[in-house]
Amino acid sequence: MSRAEEIFRKAAFVADLGMRLESIEPGVCVSSLGISARHLQQDRFIHAGVQATMADHTAGAAAASLVEADETVLTIEYKINLLRPAMGQALRCKSTVLRPGRTVIVAESEVYTLGAGDSEKLTSKATITLAVVKRTESEEGEDATHHVSTREGYDRWSEIYDGEDNALVQLEEPLVDGLVGEVRGLDVADIGCGTGRHAIRLAKRGAQVTGVDFSEGMLAKARQKAEGSVKFLVHDLSERLPFVEGTFDRVLCALVLDHINDPTALFKELRRICKKDGFVVVTVMHPAMMLRGVQARFVDPASGKKTHVESAPNLIADYVTAIARAGLAIDLFAEHSVDEALAVRSPRSRKYLGWPLLITMRLLP
Ligand SMILES: C[S@@+](CC[C@H](N)C(=O)[O-])C[C@H]1O[C@@H](n2cnc3c(N)ncnc32)[C@H](O)[C@@H]1O
Repeated sequence: MSRAEEIFRKAAFVADLGMRLESIEPGVCVSSLGISARHLQQDRFIHAGVQATMADHTAGAAAASLVEADETVLTIEYKINLLRPAMGQALRCKSTVLRPGRTVIVAESEVYTLGAGDSEKLTSKATITLAVVKRTESEEGEDATHHVSTREGYDRWSEIYDGEDNALVQLEEPLVDGLVGEVRGLDVADIGCGTGRHAIRLAKRGAQVTGVDFSEGMLAKARQKAEGSVKFLVHDLSERLPFVEGTFDRVLCALVLDHINDPTALFKELRRICKKDGFVVVTVMHPAMMLRGVQARFVDPASGKKTHVESAPNLIADYVTAIARAGLAIDLFAEHSVDEALAVRSPRSRKYLGWPLLITMRLLP
């Protein structure tokens, strides 16, 4: 993960707003934000605080692109002019460093509103002053965290994946059973099947199951355990799925979507391969976990290092929009939190007691 990506992903407030990094080059950063009702003030204009956050944070990324690896930047002052009432479907912010320096950097941010037909209006302009400071020990400690691509991450994680105290898995498994229902004699797809946790259980219950995943490591474990009861395919979900339309009675996609940058494309594929009288079951880690700094991670048994697996900062709005755009109907959409019973079964989850951990959905093609 680049420094700029890190600046966007690790700032929980910015991720919660829905701001995204669009591009970064030395001294210049562009970000975007899809506007929804929660970004508006009482008269339905885009809130000044949203524009100011965007102007400030994007300038921070532009400035950080110019400092040394052991340094970071902190805003010490900014001034923003709101040039017109902001209305539109999205914001785009371009930040440019005007004056680089060893101790102080001055940057300028221009925030544009995007309306229908790609029309763009300059809505606010800010000048931001940032101090260049040494990174703290805790930030450097974070650097000790290893960041790997999704495929490489799961290849390595596969060694220990099944044996971990994983609260998400414990909460999710019985819920999936309830959502999928009776499967005897049905054709079931497990998309992003990993080590075959669901696929093998569903095969034992009498389904003909096909599992798809791009991690050879996860699939090797799955094959070992399945002893031929499930058909496994190596496939990257960013590509069209290798099945004809309407192949499966049940399509399951469990705990995968937080690694998918284009959820709409995947939901369209889940719908395409599902029979018209079948349904799709999806589970995903609740995006609220991002606000607690949690994403897919493990301690790599090979290096002993805390390792973060590349994830996509999708919000609930991204999932709901993607489902609608894919033409799926929502039959059920539920949020599940950590309760006392789960905290007892999975001691690591106690610190998230009461906090949303999981989303489950049943979708109709
Ligand atoms: C958290 S694991 C879940 C595995 C399994 N569904 C389960 O619930 O136990 C996520 C899985 O998604 C797979 N995955 C993520 N992105 C993928 C992609 N683009 N193509 C194929 N598989 C992917 C990973 O390899 C990993 O096995």
